[in-house]
Amino acid sequence: MEWTSPTTRPTLTPGSVHVWLGQLEPPPEVLRRCAALLSADEQQRAARFYFPRDANRFTVARGTLRTLLGHYLGEAPHSLRFVEGTHGKPALAGSDVSLHFNISHSHQLALVAVAREREVGVDIERLRPEVAGEKIAERFFSTAEVATLRALPTEQQVEGFFNCWARKEAYIKGRGLGLALQLDAFDVSLVPGQPAALLATRGPAQDGRQWQLYDLPAVPGYAAALAVEGAPVLVQNWHWNWFEIGEDRA
Ligand SMILES: CC(C)(COP(=O)(O)OP(=O)(O)OC[C@H]1O[C@@H](n2cnc3c(N)ncnc32)[C@H](O)[C@@H]1OP(=O)(O)O)[C@@H](O)C(=O)NCCC(=O)NCCS
Repeated sequence: MEWTSPTTRPTLTPGSVHVWLGQLEPPPEVLRRCAALLSADEQQRAARFYFPRDANRFTVARGTLRTLLGHYLGEAPHSLRFVEGTHGKPALAGSDVSLHFNISHSHQLALVAVAREREVGVDIERLRPEVAGEKIAERFFSTAEVATLRALPTEQQVEGFFNCWARKEAYIKGRGLGLALQLDAFDVSLVPGQPAALLATRGPAQDGRQWQLYDLPAVPGYAAALAVEGAPVLVQNWHWNWFEIGEDRA
């Protein structure tokens, strides 16, 4: 598994999911192009960040999202409109609402997952050893996950912790429920080297739809995961290029 830069625009079939990885700190002209794509609401949100760096990262994330979705839809990126679900998950408004997406950002990096006719959730987390402690695990992880984490050798604790975190986040983001979905009502795999999996769901976490968790190619210093609704799909992993980001044409 690796991240590939496409030479032509990749085709998204209902049986595949595309995940895009990229930086949020582009050359200045790309930042300007991204800013020009944002809606009035998004510009206001960007203006509310205290640090310019955070405003710029938000602008690039939204500009990149608009560019990628515009390509799939054959529509100009600035013309896309978003609506938010009850718990804040953004979705496309308008004609082609069968295109689903989710975005995650951490530090300088972002991931965008795109799918047709099925919900997706994605998460990327920078590995922060200072966060990966037992108290935080007990607060956010299920009993089974905490036990699995405790049994890991010390040198695997940080990676195991963030495998768990990214997979849980990807699942709650796929479902669109945020923290309205109880984090101890489902178990994910976390042992380094073992595949991403949704191991159990209980009570409110149960869902008539089938969900799959997927690993993504390694991103050094980060953990990342993808959750996809429905039967297994082919996941294709792409790296975005600055030359196309912010272009406002279909
Ligand atoms: C949005 C949320 C679901 C994830 O936030 P996060 O991990 O800090 O941030 P990410 O970068 O991964 O995702 C943010 C993006 O998710 C999208 N998003 C917002 N609400 C969402 C929801 N309910 N479902 C799915 N996606 C959502 C947005 O596009 C947002 O980006 P934007 O603010 O630039 O528009 C957050 O509301 C949340 O509930 N976080 C829980 C954090 C936590 O305590 N986790 C415990 C460890 S498992």
